[in-house]
Amino acid sequence: MNYKAVVAELVAAKLPELNAETVAELLEYPPNPELGDLSLPCFKLSKQLRQAPQQIASRIAEQLDPHPAIASVEAVSGYLNFKLDRARFAADVLGAVLREGERYGSRTIGAGKTIVIDYSSPNIAKPFHIGHLRSTMIGNALYKIHEFLGYTCVGVNHLGDWGTQFGKQIAAFKLWGDADKVEREGVEELLRLYVKFHEEAEKNPALEDEARALFVKLEQGDEECLRLWKWIIEISYREFNKIYGLLNVTFDSDLGESFYIDKTGAVIEELEAKNLLVEDDGAKLVRLDEYNMPPVLIVKKDGATLYHTRDIAAAFYRKKTYDFHKCIYVTGSAQSLHFAQWFKIIELMGYDWAADLVHVPFGQVSLEGAKLSTRKGNVVLLEELLQKSIDQTLQIISEKNPSLENKDEVARQVGVGAIVFNDLSTYRIKDVVFSWDEVLNFEGETGPYVQYAHARCCSVLRKASGTDSIEAPAVTPEQAALLTHPSEQAALRELYLFPERVLQAQQKLEPSIITRHLVDVAQSFSRFYHDCPILVDDEGQRAARLGLVKAVQTVLKTGLALIGLEAPQKM
Ligand code: ARG
Repeated sequence: MNYKAVVAELVAAKLPELNAETVAELLEYPPNPELGDLSLPCFKLSKQLRQAPQQIASRIAEQLDPHPAIASVEAVSGYLNFKLDRARFAADVLGAVLREGERYGSRTIGAGKTIVIDYSSPNIAKPFHIGHLRSTMIGNALYKIHEFLGYTCVGVNHLGDWGTQFGKQIAAFKLWGDADKVEREGVEELLRLYVKFHEEAEKNPALEDEARALFVKLEQGDEECLRLWKWIIEISYREFNKIYGLLNVTFDSDLGESFYIDKTGAVIEELEAKNLLVEDDGAKLVRLDEYNMPPVLIVKKDGATLYHTRDIAAAFYRKKTYDFHKCIYVTGSAQSLHFAQWFKIIELMGYDWAADLVHVPFGQVSLEGAKLSTRKGNVVLLEELLQKSIDQTLQIISEKNPSLENKDEVARQVGVGAIVFNDLSTYRIKDVVFSWDEVLNFEGETGPYVQYAHARCCSVLRKASGTDSIEAPAVTPEQAALLTHPSEQAALRELYLFPERVLQAQQKLEPSIITRHLVDVAQSFSRFYHDCPILVDDEGQRAARLGLVKAVQTVLKTGLALIGLEAPQKM
């Protein structure tokens, strides 16, 4: 049952000025359930109704029609507070979760709509660092969340496999490279060469010209350059795939920037035909002064295309191929201008679907204060980071649960999960500071804490069944109605909120809403577990409490999956 809708209907029936939807939007969940389960802040209505908040609240409280789901209504300091009927609420929520299982919270609002999500998109020949992790995991979560709500998703890894940096990479390899060493050491060696190139180019600027010339050769299809370029991609890919394997992330398409080079010509012609291109010292650009943005270079003097050009071509290709409802780009906020610029260009070309292109920016990740930059080589390699987390987790698990069977796999799920969870806990636009102590704390608001709560649910269910099964016995509505203890009610309330939180996460493109909610669910479970003995003699109470454990386990598992985390049954 949607309690906001029920309450809103009842209130709106007494307020001819407002419809139920408007009232529903005003309703809040009071942080302190002692006050009520739902609350209407009447000060938000006093202007429209020309009445003091407390008067409005008292008037509605007096007139409200009774409803079996509502136990009491009270007007307190300008708020209208509703308490739900606990027994009914318990039977209703528990019934819904147990009936729907891992589909609880899903919807069909996205049916028939395709969402293209462009995420991860690392640059070839550069290491995958924790900045890319955010893109990967935010994109992966958005994918799962949309899918859960019925959308068809297309995950695209728009690899940075083209651009002037390949001129530098090829130049560096030709000057100082050793093929065996690159084969052996992979991206690390490629990065070393790339860093060396920048150091040397500072002393000898002619190197920059050489790199530029090599990139033009590559664009023109020079065989040797193409061969080296392909090989560099292969080397990089080996490494990326290791990381995607650890993260358990897959894509539907990995067409990188290079796929679009032969599609940029049509874009340039169309821009020209629509009088959007201006010549500037041999180069071609689109001016955006009117929109308070710097001009966008589309073709360089030497004929080379740019990141923008390829993004525009890719957008046309995706519109034609997928007829997307929305195309979402997940990158650091440093690229906000880039996207605003070329979204504008598509709009100026006359395509109304420009409004369906969405940039999802996120803040920077830093580790102990150090910023991450590839060029200087002071990067934190993600693989190292993940491995360190897995190792430390293995140690903790070995101490906590020495007899656990598949320790290595659990350590991967928890160690990787810890980092991902940390990344997805803060509002994406905020910067993330990485601290080992916080990330791996089994007691804090962390991934391991939530996964541990899930494993604890499983262990209770196993104990009750006396087998390895984590199924709970059936619960009748009468039994479920016994869950009226404040701690039981608090846990039920978090379960009730889950579908709403998932929807909010999709609407705001903000996976952290789910991440934080999972902490609330896990905390409410801990309190319930502490306050209410589960395997009691009373059959009804035991069934109801076991049902609640099963419901918490289900929601934790579903929620963790939505943010890309696994939920081990034992840890
Ligand atoms: N390769 C870029 C980077 O690492 C991100 C690409 C994002 N996607 C796009 N279509 N521009 O910064």
